[in-house]
Amino acid sequence: MLSHAFPPGCALVEPAPAKINLALAVVGQRADGYHLLDSLVTFTAFGDRIGFSPAAEDRFTLSGRFAGTLGGDGNLVLSARNRLRAALAATGQAAPPVHIHLEKNLPVAAGIGGGSADAAAALRGLLAFWRAGLPQATLDALAIGLGADVPMCLASRPLVARGVGEEIVRLAMPALPVVLANPLVGVSTPAVFQALAEKRNPPLDLPRAAGIDWPALIARLRNDLEPPARRLCGEIAAISDSLAASGAGLVRMSGSGATCFGLYASPGEARAAADGLARRHPDWFIVATTTLCEDDGHGRA
Ligand code: C5P
Repeated sequence: MLSHAFPPGCALVEPAPAKINLALAVVGQRADGYHLLDSLVTFTAFGDRIGFSPAAEDRFTLSGRFAGTLGGDGNLVLSARNRLRAALAATGQAAPPVHIHLEKNLPVAAGIGGGSADAAAALRGLLAFWRAGLPQATLDALAIGLGADVPMCLASRPLVARGVGEEIVRLAMPALPVVLANPLVGVSTPAVFQALAEKRNPPLDLPRAAGIDWPALIARLRNDLEPPARRLCGEIAAISDSLAASGAGLVRMSGSGATCFGLYASPGEARAAADGLARRHPDWFIVATTTLCEDDGHGRA
């Protein structure tokens, strides 16, 4: 169902699921300064949403809890629109004016995709809205050009991301009940990478076999960005401790933080934990959701 905030008669709504780095290893650094990663990634049913409607001229409107805090994220949607339009023009495809509405439900600079999820959803949604198509290689180049996390957000399903984020290997993973918690203190991704003491860490030890006990496997892995992020942002320790005390089987930070996630045995336990956390910490961003399976219908591109 469309929220009342979407333009009436909105022709198409594309979800922009939150990203969770279930584990993240920093395994090296490129000559241009970008870091080489090995990351186990999934996405959640909760996220931003982007609506597309025909318009006489291009428009961009915003709603949602975090609409007022938007810095670069909105610009990333418009960059995605502009670059996609240019790529379509180069192949003789029409990309007429469009009213884009972003419902911003995810905190910004939070380690859960945010602007990258919005940029990827803009690419997916606009291709459908304009009934257009591009070769996968062109789309992949557009995505990585918008940001290192945009290719994984374009897929929006369980995957392993390597390189700086452009090498994607899809994998099967069940839906996991999860709580996302963020102190609403923005953390600068470049600052966290800079504060990382060791840039050449071992890759993740991911089995290839089927029948994996995912929560047990994830518990054995790590996020190399968590120690430097904790040094830069004192609130991460409090968030992490609160999630652990709420009954989570596993607690870890996502991306460069400050969002931490807890995994729970059931959706009911996740909801109960989120309700308790929200009562005790009304100033935090807390949401209970589930991770997406490979067949949830997201990531058409
Ligand atoms: O690509 P994006 O603009 O999302 O990255 C933001 C910043 O995060 C980069 O400027 C870089 O400092 C850092 N980064 C990195 N290695 C990555 C991804 C991001 O060093 N793989």
